[in-house]
Amino acid sequence: IEGLDVGADDYLTKPFSARELVARVRSNLDLAQIRSDAKAAIAQSEERLRELNMDLENRVLEEVNKRAKAEEALRHAQKMEAVGQLTGGIAHDFNNLLTVIIGGLETIERSQSDDARHAIGLRLAFKGAERAADLTSRLLAFSRRQPLEPRRLDVNALVHDMRNLLHRTLGEQIKLKGALAPQLWAIEADKGQLENAIINLAVNARDAMPHGGVLAIETSNAVIDKAHAGIGADVLPGQYVCISVSDSGEGMSEETMCRAFEPFFTTKEVGRGTGLGLSMIYGFVKQSGGHVSISSELGKGTIVSLYFPRGTAQEESAPQKIELAIPKSTRGEVVLVVEDNDDVRAYTVMSLVELGYDVCQAANYDEAIRALRDDERIELLFTDVVLPGKSGRAIADDAMRLRPALKVLFATGYSRDAIVHHGRLDPGVTLITKPFTFEQLALKVREVLDRR
Ligand SMILES: Nc1ncnc2c1ncn2[C@@H]1O[C@H](COP(=O)(O)OP(=O)(O)OP(=O)(O)O)[C@@H](O)[C@H]1O
Ligand SMILES: [Mg+2]
Repeated sequence: IEGLDVGADDYLTKPFSARELVARVRSNLDLAQIRSDAKAAIAQSEERLRELNMDLENRVLEEVNKRAKAEEALRHAQKMEAVGQLTGGIAHDFNNLLTVIIGGLETIERSQSDDARHAIGLRLAFKGAERAADLTSRLLAFSRRQPLEPRRLDVNALVHDMRNLLHRTLGEQIKLKGALAPQLWAIEADKGQLENAIINLAVNARDAMPHGGVLAIETSNAVIDKAHAGIGADVLPGQYVCISVSDSGEGMSEETMCRAFEPFFTTKEVGRGTGLGLSMIYGFVKQSGGHVSISSELGKGTIVSLYFPRGTAQEESAPQKIELAIPKSTRGEVVLVVEDNDDVRAYTVMSLVELGYDVCQAANYDEAIRALRDDERIELLFTDVVLPGKSGRAIADDAMRLRPALKVLFATGYSRDAIVHHGRLDPGVTLITKPFTFEQLALKVREVLDRR
């Protein structure tokens, strides 16, 4: 009907019978019900559709975020890897140079001049060389190339034993708290390096709390599952022991936190920090098969957590104490020195001669094997690991085939080499790290020669 919003079912044409009226009213009542049901159903599905859309959007957003995080972690890991390669290379060359410098200084020192100026000059030169060696070893630690001596460790006992040292480091104004988990799993790690890491974290915390505060060391067993392992690009799922060092200090900005592990990144004034503390920790923990995390907020404090994989090895017997007198050759044993760097070789040969050994030398694989064939008396092979052409390891393997009773001592500026598998020494392999001092050389050579 023109002008009225009605459908064919909505009116009756007059005249109509009583029956028609009753039938129409009844059917219209049903129709109204159907219409309102349909409307409700449409509204409901519209609502569901909206929800689904929202859900989808959220899920896409979540996925994109997760991806961005993983990519960021990967980029970070790659950057650290690249910087590690670079520092490791530099440190390796520096170790060779320092071996020569320290060796030369020791030779001058032993020549005992009476001139007071000589003595002062020597002392200063030693100090400089030692500082350089220290710096180099920290760079090696960062680049995960320091030789580690992993041993089964009870972290709680280690932290407990460090109390006095930590108190002294932190000073009076900082309260030290410990929360050590009972039944903590054992780990396998280098004890000295772990202590070093904890001290470094404590020093950072102290610097962040100039007006005092609380430093807490907490240990716990931690299981990292697949979901969490995915976040860091190189974190493997598994059982870990977590050591957390937290402070109530000034905290870090987002930017500082992102760069904190980079070598030489420091916010401290010149002379107060080298920016190598956290880098060393990063390298050491990674080399030990674990990982590190920082969480921090400006003004609220910082937590640094170190995760070490749960240890599996059985208890080892305590290592032997090394005597500290300089041991010399007893029978004039013959040592073959293999080293490609002329200066390092000259220094090593000179030192061994001074210690009473009979020495022959070689600069590479061919010369070494020839010397071993020519001279039956050689008892010890002292070889650099990294050589042009065939490595020190190859020389040792072939030499042992020629002469099964031969003793071997490896020298290395870093340990990425064939000697070290997964950051640890193969059993039976003895290593001296460059730069080595006269005394260290004397001790190591004797240790290997005296071994049954
Ligand atoms: N607990 C902490 N609270 C606040 N900032 C910290 C903390 N630990 C580290 N940082 C920040 O991270 C930077 C890098 O730390 P890292 O230990 O590597 O070097 P450093 O302490 O500056 O120097 P170094 O340890 O070589 O003496 C620090 O300069 C500081 O800005
Ligand atoms: Mg530091």
